[in-house]
Amino acid sequence: MSFDRSIKIAPSILAADFANFGAEVQAVEAQGADWIHIDVMDGHFVPNLTFGPPMVKALRRHVSTVMDVHLMIAPVDPYIEAYADAGADVLTAHVEAGPHIHRTLQAIRGTGMKAGVALNPGTPASAIAHVLDLCDLICVMTVNPGFGGQSFIDMSGKIAQLRAMIGDREVHIEIDGGVDVNTAPIVAGAGADVLVAGSAVFRGGSVETPGPYGENIRAIRAAAG
Ligand code: DX5
Ligand code: ZN
Repeated sequence: MSFDRSIKIAPSILAADFANFGAEVQAVEAQGADWIHIDVMDGHFVPNLTFGPPMVKALRRHVSTVMDVHLMIAPVDPYIEAYADAGADVLTAHVEAGPHIHRTLQAIRGTGMKAGVALNPGTPASAIAHVLDLCDLICVMTVNPGFGGQSFIDMSGKIAQLRAMIGDREVHIEIDGGVDVNTAPIVAGAGADVLVAGSAVFRGGSVETPGPYGENIRAIRAAAG
């Protein structure tokens, strides 16, 4: 994965057809997705349960872009190897998921994956001040994690603060939750470069009629400027 700060649209498969993930991933990539965002939920760290390493591994052969795996689980460390084996390119852990985020990020990088750290809306940017050299991506949650289709929580101040803290480090700022044509310019303007979007991308389309996926992706990208 080479680094550049151009705007990337990362559709979240949480909003896709759960009975047809492989075809959905291929369709949304063909329609212009830059990354594929995969939401892993354990029903413990968040009040919802999705899927684990076997599903991510099965999806790998359908993803030709970047497999961006968002772990909404606690603990994280016992599962890092399994996601590396599943073929994740980026593995993101929540700073709130345990007491040792420094070790978790070291362990993720130790497998060769890119390391991401996610911050819930209530968590300050300062929580990751001492791990900026251990991460390749910071995921700023703009909803409380667990579900798609929720209302956007404006985190512009935190995004700008993180952008300043990062300086010229090669670290992506990813926004996750409620991203659409109205909120994309807000977060891009504050310094974000990876925009996760579930409902705003998959809205109105299907594997059989994927045109709306492309229209939605292009509209969000245009709105981000
Ligand atoms: C929420 C997930 C998000 C969510 C985004 O816990 O981490 O990735 O799927 O969905 P939308 O874009 O519909 O808010
Ligand atoms: Zn997510």
